[in-house]
Amino acid sequence: MMKLFDTHAHLDDGRFDEDRDSMISQCIEDGVSLILNAGSNIETSLKSVSLAKEYELIYASVGVHPHDAATMDDTSIDIIGELTSNPKVKAIGEIGLDYYYDFSPRDIQKKRFIEQIDLARQLKLPVIVHDRDSHGDVMDIFKKTRINEVGGVLHSFSGSVEMARECLKMGLYISISGPVTFKNAVKTVEVVKEVPLDMLLIETDSPYLTPVPYRGKRNYPGYVRYVAEKIAELKGITVEEVAQKTLENGKRLFGIL
Ligand code: NI
Repeated sequence: MMKLFDTHAHLDDGRFDEDRDSMISQCIEDGVSLILNAGSNIETSLKSVSLAKEYELIYASVGVHPHDAATMDDTSIDIIGELTSNPKVKAIGEIGLDYYYDFSPRDIQKKRFIEQIDLARQLKLPVIVHDRDSHGDVMDIFKKTRINEVGGVLHSFSGSVEMARECLKMGLYISISGPVTFKNAVKTVEVVKEVPLDMLLIETDSPYLTPVPYRGKRNYPGYVRYVAEKIAELKGITVEEVAQKTLENGKRLFGIL
């Protein structure tokens, strides 16, 4: 039986309220052995920790997404820090920049991103980074904060091969999600071919970014298999090998034994 690690999901999302428990049982049947549930604000970070307490296969990250950066005040960083006292919290995230939606002013996005990287450094936890249409500033902040000393992953990577190379030099992992299965995924296909298998992670970002053949439906961690299959096809290896390696990579990055 294949063991898959979905390294990024939002199972706290309201779209799972009706069937969360049976959906998680289905994940286990589908060969998912680990899930990292990512927080995106204080409320969902709390929920993320609750899910990790309730389900053995779920681990959590805590942090505030760039969309919600403007909701942070000076107590937020302390709350995030306190949440990491639970041993199943394995990363700070998702944090980063989003210049596609610009839901928070860019100067505030940057300030809160840097602050949370600094927290991760203090706590010796890796970061989970969201970057949408903000590649230049994300790379600047990586350099400024010496991200290589912190470690982490670019989740649902959407950058170029050149950017992927830069990130690899900084020791960062690259996580691939459902859009790699889309017909127009030219750039991400090139990235998958370029990045060594031992630096790749797979994820669903459930309930978002549903892969082909279920594109348009609600996503869930069982569909991470389709991401693994696409990577296997692109690299000319078996899906079992992709599952095995990405599981090991995720455990190494997040310190899961
Ligand atoms: Ni996400």
